[in-house]
Amino acid sequence: MTKDGVEAVDIDTSRPHPARIYDYLLGGKDHYAVDQRAGDELAAAAPEARIGVRANRAFLRRAVRYVVADGVRQILDIGTGLPTSPNVHEVAQALAPDVRVAYVDNDPIVAAHGNALLSRSGTTRIVLGDLRDPGSVLDHPDVRRLIDFGRPVALLLVAVLHFLADADRPAEVVGTLRDALPEGSYLVLSHATGDFADRSAAQAVYAKATASLNLRGHAEVERFFDGFELVEPGLAQVPFWRPDAPPPPRSEEIGFYAGVARKTA
Ligand SMILES: C[S@@+](CC[C@H](N)C(=O)[O-])C[C@H]1O[C@@H](n2cnc3c(N)ncnc32)[C@H](O)[C@@H]1O
Repeated sequence: MTKDGVEAVDIDTSRPHPARIYDYLLGGKDHYAVDQRAGDELAAAAPEARIGVRANRAFLRRAVRYVVADGVRQILDIGTGLPTSPNVHEVAQALAPDVRVAYVDNDPIVAAHGNALLSRSGTTRIVLGDLRDPGSVLDHPDVRRLIDFGRPVALLLVAVLHFLADADRPAEVVGTLRDALPEGSYLVLSHATGDFADRSAAQAVYAKATASLNLRGHAEVERFFDGFELVEPGLAQVPFWRPDAPPPPRSEEIGFYAGVARKTA
């Protein structure tokens, strides 16, 4: 452990990482010069990028409150990101202190920071795991220790599926996860899109990062919800999914779709 409680990990500062670029755009402090440069390039290419990541984060909070209000007490959050206040467990446990949250991310830095944040918690864990191998995520002992797949689970895939290329078979990945969930479970998803503005410059930035950015259109993103029923208003741009405040500026340009759906029999 280092003095701030974060375990030493092999940190690659030669290429930008999605988690660290996102942290930079959100105004966090867990990133390096290479991520900052990538974030600045992104913001130059997509002037609403900073507003968009904040709006995505606000969607995440609203969606977590929605599923907890509906009685869900278990959350599997894959593609967690670096800790950002308030974190998913803080939002959920403010409403229901017994909510259990299993966080999964494939970036060792996220796992290290998460461990430092969660070390004293019995209801929350972070696991190093890869969404592209959903079976190993579902079978991970720490996930199994926390999540009972016999009771409803909210599966969070928020701003992560666009880091899976078509060759990673994202629809099959989501299908494997869906099949492990009982009726009454939820899928909470957001996904980058080029439907509202040309985002090829943003893709060029991620081409130099550790994961590519795979933009998908409305119909393609909606198909990830196969086997679930979308709740109102369906698949919407993040600021317009059940807003609890006036939309931020440039909302119409924000390139993130969001939806919440319930698994039915
Ligand atoms: C943009 S952040 C989103 C964080 C959070 N879900 C949110 O929306 O605020 C994407 C996260 O997904 C993680 N990620 C990317 N590819 C992944 C994969 N194949 N398996 C697990 N996590 C992945 C990145 O490391 C990063 O932490």
